[in-house]
Amino acid sequence: MLSSSTILLLMVAASLAQAAHSPPLVVQEPFSTISDVKVPVVLGVMSRCPDALMCESVFDRVVHRVADKINLTMTYLGKINSSESTFGVTCMHGQDECAGNVHQLCVAKYTQLSQWWEFVQCNNYHGRDKIGTPEVALSCAKTTEIDWEGSGAGQCAGIDGSGTGEEGISLLRESVKNTQALNITQVEWKSCTIVINGNQVCIRDDGQWKSCEAGHAPADFIKQIDEEYNRLNSNETGDEFE
Ligand SMILES: *[C@@H]1O[C@H](CO)[C@@H](O)[C@H](O)[C@H]1NC(C)=O
Ligand SMILES: *[C@@H]1O[C@H](CO)[C@@H](O)[C@H](O)[C@H]1NC(C)=O
Ligand SMILES: *[C@@H]1O[C@H](CO)[C@@H](O)[C@H](O)[C@H]1NC(C)=O
Ligand SMILES: *[C@@H]1O[C@H](CO)[C@@H](O)[C@H](O)[C@H]1NC(C)=O
Repeated sequence: MLSSSTILLLMVAASLAQAAHSPPLVVQEPFSTISDVKVPVVLGVMSRCPDALMCESVFDRVVHRVADKINLTMTYLGKINSSESTFGVTCMHGQDECAGNVHQLCVAKYTQLSQWWEFVQCNNYHGRDKIGTPEVALSCAKTTEIDWEGSGAGQCAGIDGSGTGEEGISLLRESVKNTQALNITQVEWKSCTIVINGNQVCIRDDGQWKSCEAGHAPADFIKQIDEEYNRLNSNETGDEFE
């Protein structure tokens, strides 16, 4: 059997023989496109929850190290409740928390990871009792150089920073349902729950780390993400040969 390089040489020879009359030979690299699969990382949180703030501060050191290897999303805990007139959702830390969740969801939707993540860190820096207020939303948008009106984030969350924009409210409801679908339990309000590539790897709840078999330090999460990334992108998957 002829190897592909032999065939290539024959083709080059044939095209050289045809000399000036033939178009230039274009050699296509068959495997030149390296598709890089990102690791899905999900944080199940509530914007005003002290455990979530702790989790997000640990993750701040993770995100900066593995930003290009992850697809990070935050999913919010709450209860769909038609008696809640503004959001249709009960948030454990009150309606201001619902507004804070909306701010973060809208910024996540309309900005890049780096800006969105800094926006969340900025929210937390102001203290959890101020999260969800228009002042914090607008001031953090400014600090992180988010174009509140132009990016779409403001339209989504409410230009005035109220967190009651129509799109934002529907994002919150979708998010709460998504959290339920991920089995991040609603009854016991486990915020934060960390899910790496579909596996719940760690929970921060009641001021303690729980069920964190592979550890809960930034280095432990980085290691788990690196492992998943290598697994998802290893030659064994066969993706490159499809
Ligand atoms: C990132 O994850 C979200 C939520 O799971 C998903 O909807 C989205 O398509 C993913 N994006 C990429 C680029 O994989
Ligand atoms: C639903 O919302 C109403 C109005 O705020 C509240 O009184 C009630 O406790 C909520 N129900 C649940 C299950 O959280
Ligand atoms: C959630 O739990 C249900 C019931 O145990 C199960 O059928 C479903 O596959 C689980 N979903 C996820 C995303 O783990
Ligand atoms: C995939 O295979 C190539 C060529 O054999 C090798 O250089 C590369 O390190 C492999 N990548 C992984 C992630 O195993």
